[in-house]
Amino acid sequence: MCLWMQSSFSTRASACISDNNQKEISTHTFNFMMIGLPLLAVFLPAAATVQGRLLIEASRDFPLGSEVENLALRPSGSVLATVYTSPPQGIYEVAPHQNSTPKLLYTFTNTTGACGITASPTEPDVFFVMTGNFSFDTLSPAPGSYAIHRLSFDKKCGDKPIVKKIAALGAIAQPNGITSVPKSSYLLIADSVGGFVYRFDTLTLQLTTYFDHPLLKPLPGPIRFGVNGVKLSRGYMYFSNTNQQIVARIKATGREETVPLTGNPETVATSTPVDDFIVNDLNGDVYLAEQDPINGIGLVSKNAYGSVPVTIASGPPLLGPTAAIWAKCAVGKTLLVSVTGGFEQFVTKNFTGGGKVVVVHLE
Ligand SMILES: *[C@@H]1O[C@H](CO)[C@@H](O)[C@H](O)[C@H]1NC(C)=O
Ligand SMILES: *[C@@H]1O[C@H](CO)[C@@H](O)[C@H](O)[C@H]1NC(C)=O
Ligand SMILES: *[C@@H]1O[C@H](CO)[C@@H](O)[C@H](O)[C@H]1NC(C)=O
Repeated sequence: MCLWMQSSFSTRASACISDNNQKEISTHTFNFMMIGLPLLAVFLPAAATVQGRLLIEASRDFPLGSEVENLALRPSGSVLATVYTSPPQGIYEVAPHQNSTPKLLYTFTNTTGACGITASPTEPDVFFVMTGNFSFDTLSPAPGSYAIHRLSFDKKCGDKPIVKKIAALGAIAQPNGITSVPKSSYLLIADSVGGFVYRFDTLTLQLTTYFDHPLLKPLPGPIRFGVNGVKLSRGYMYFSNTNQQIVARIKATGREETVPLTGNPETVATSTPVDDFIVNDLNGDVYLAEQDPINGIGLVSKNAYGSVPVTIASGPPLLGPTAAIWAKCAVGKTLLVSVTGGFEQFVTKNFTGGGKVVVVHLE
């Protein structure tokens, strides 16, 4: 049975959006929010570039209490967002523009939430998503509750998602960031509690330790969050470590025959309350989702590796950002950011601001 009809909300994103079109969209999107400048600045001629001025757009709120955790891009340009809290956990689809409404596409059984999601390395419009029981009371995972699923879309059936569990991830204490390895059947998965990066083969379902290093480990304490995000870019594996407040990178392709990797990572960012992050594949700049007390986006440009990120946007609507990806055809230009609306809500249970998907136009 077809539960979900083809939605019209992503029609604008059906083709690559050129620079000119983006400007046009921006100027026709009223009611946007600006950080650090008067509204008039957006209406400057397209040729004018103004440093430190960003156009920020936000979707409508997810249901109150949603911990929006991770994002992946569909070929249409719309966004799949995972929600890690119940109710209603699962996969939402959000059009990447101001005031779009998050639509619940799928809810998983036998779990309290969906966390990491990544596009298949080989098949278009196919995704891998992890689920598991994470307690926002104790900020810790339920051992043995995690699993990985394959999500595809049935065009004949009004774009209904078809979801199949492919494996339990019982060996991983807390799966967090996930990224696909181009030209392979591999995914890399960060384990925040164990402090490892694993490699999962989506064909053989084999799980291998891919990297093990002190910079991946959590620190002792009540909230143990080591390696969080993991990305492949420019011949390196980049990773963030929330407890150690760093981003680092090590030479890697993801396709090595002999693993675990050996060697020492190079520090990319320090003293950062980092969650997940994204690399600009074209120039090596790194954009970080920075939690409290920054609640915004940090930037470490390629020539500043090893330093504290520069905050380029913060405050509402970027409260409690969890991850960032590039918008369609917009590497280096447009970030899509998942935000929780403020992380303290999951501790106090006083839910005042909903999660969102936020579009940050960098130019
Ligand atoms: C995870 O949560 C689901 C839904 O509440 C529950 O049915 C399941 O028993 C839990 N699994 C574990 C291992 O805690
Ligand atoms: C629930 O999920 C866990 C973890 O993936 C798995 O071990 C268990 O078999 C599942 N139970 C059901 C009823 O699907
Ligand atoms: C919940 O948060 C709101 C906004 O910060 C605040 O005004 C209100 O007093 C809080 N309620 C409780 C019960 O703490």
